[in-house]
Amino acid sequence: MNQGPLVFLGTFFALATAWFGFILQPELQIGSQQPFLIEDSGQLYPTKPAGLAKQGEDVYRANGCFYCHTMQVRPQGLGGDVARNWGARSGPVQSVSRDYLYAEPAMLGSQRVGPDLTNIGLRQTNEVWLLQHLYNPQSLAAGSTMPPYRYLFAKRKTTPGQAPSKDALPPDNNLPGYEIVPTDDAKALVAYLLSLRSDGILYEAPTLYVKPATAPAATTTNASPAANSPAK
Ligand code: HEC
Repeated sequence: MNQGPLVFLGTFFALATAWFGFILQPELQIGSQQPFLIEDSGQLYPTKPAGLAKQGEDVYRANGCFYCHTMQVRPQGLGGDVARNWGARSGPVQSVSRDYLYAEPAMLGSQRVGPDLTNIGLRQTNEVWLLQHLYNPQSLAAGSTMPPYRYLFAKRKTTPGQAPSKDALPPDNNLPGYEIVPTDDAKALVAYLLSLRSDGILYEAPTLYVKPATAPAATTTNASPAANSPAK
């Protein structure tokens, strides 16, 4: 008996269902998402990474930082991310698809050997700290298992009496006669880290979002902010 048409129909049905479920449906749900206009500041969120931060994104990818660091804050109730203050909107709130609108590709990561970096640009705003940490993580976080990225820095001999280079790291007593200068890659990487801040308030991430009142609030309550969360 010729079962060709049946096999064809079965295969077609399986592929069509998969295409519908994995491609068409997500496209219909989130394919047309646009940046969100934050009314108070008139700014769009998210913004396209540009300039140095954009270059730094490539350095981040090339060095495999995503093997140890995630960029996804899980919702409350699905882990301790929010409690660790890894999300920060009008309150700590999980990541949503719109955060990744311009990420090509989104480096979500799958393991957390180190902390989530979604909001590192809000948490750590000190450029020198970030550079020093890249050069020698153990010097700032005792016992850190993060590898040092020394090849992103140049080690230069200094001449006594001469002023150190403008962007050299603070002098290290263990290295008399030398200075450590970040390369363009290190500077770009840090610019990228500083640009990582998903603090845009989005309607789809409203857990603790309370729309700022433009007119005096009609009612006042003593309820804690948690009372605004949707019931579970
Ligand atoms: C082998 C795993 C590993 C890799 C690869 C790695 N890290 Fe880390 N990272 C860690 C660990 C563990 C910590 C926490 C201890 C510390 O602060 O050093 C950390 C901490 C950090 C912090 C401080 C986070 C905070 O909340 O204070 C930053 C920033 C960071 N890493 C950036 C990077 C960048 C950029 C790269 C790629 C160039 C990278 N890491 C690669 C393991 C890793």
